[in-house]
Amino acid sequence: MDEMNMKGRFALVTGGSRGIGRAIALELASRGVNVAINYLRNKTAAMETARAIEEAGSRSLLLKGNVAQRDHLDRLFERIESEFGRLDILVSNAASGVLKSALELTERHWHWTMDINAGALLGLVQKAAPLMKKEEGGWVVAVSSLGAVRAIPHYAAVGASKAALESLVRHLALELAPQGIHVNAISAGVVETDALKFFPERDSILENSRKRTPAGRLTAPEDVAKAVVFLCSPMSDMVHGQTLVVDGGYSILA
Ligand SMILES: NC(=O)c1ccc[n+]([C@@H]2O[C@H](COP(=O)([O-])OP(=O)(O)OC[C@H]3O[C@@H](n4cnc5c(N)ncnc54)[C@H](OP(=O)(O)O)[C@@H]3O)[C@@H](O)[C@H]2O)c1
Repeated sequence: MDEMNMKGRFALVTGGSRGIGRAIALELASRGVNVAINYLRNKTAAMETARAIEEAGSRSLLLKGNVAQRDHLDRLFERIESEFGRLDILVSNAASGVLKSALELTERHWHWTMDINAGALLGLVQKAAPLMKKEEGGWVVAVSSLGAVRAIPHYAAVGASKAALESLVRHLALELAPQGIHVNAISAGVVETDALKFFPERDSILENSRKRTPAGRLTAPEDVAKAVVFLCSPMSDMVHGQTLVVDGGYSILA
């Protein structure tokens, strides 16, 4: 039996149009998974990723909406239910956030970041779980970052939101494991995507990460995508509520 056989399953990847989410969507599609990709603004990128999913031989569904808004999630899931009729895999990958020193953060910055990066997982799982079938299992993977457990300049709001995300993953895993649903997180090392353009220290982050990573290179979007496949397969059947670090060993260093 091919333990990684996912053919015919249905997935939603939030923020699946660009960067890490795109790599996850394409990896799943290459394995025969039909993929709904959600995005916020950039329709051109979303359409291009949808086309690549179809080229891989899978069905795609384009879902524009803000994952932090419950009425948007209602609309997204109405489409998933009518077009797919079920959901097997949810990848909560979309993220945003305000990169400022903690003393400069306003209440609005804080809520914006927490709502998109942590709060969205709760709303997404509340909508997704009823569409997952107990006999076949369901899989939820949230994408986190090392800032959840470390301190990074200008990362106070995002780091705190990722810590909340990882905690929520544990609590959701506790509640959903009896229903055959696996909930886990992947914490990625530095990945060179558009998101990095917003970091004031972008160049030094990249250089430091390249130099320090024991595996000798940056984490690629595809590294994260392969870990998603592992966490959505019977190979990780007894893994519930964990955060798998995919960073080439960067975070093991003192
Ligand atoms: N890059 C890194 O170094 C790194 C490291 C560790 C963890 N991560 C995590 O990996 C995930 C993906 O990051 P990335 O670097 O691939 O980001 P990215 O290239 O900036 O892509 C972000 C994606 O999320 C979508 N998005 C943003 N806000 C959204 C919202 N409110 N509702 C729905 N969709 C939204 C964007 O859609 P539009 O195109 O429409 O804007 C886009 O598809 C995030 O959770 C991030 O924290 C990244």
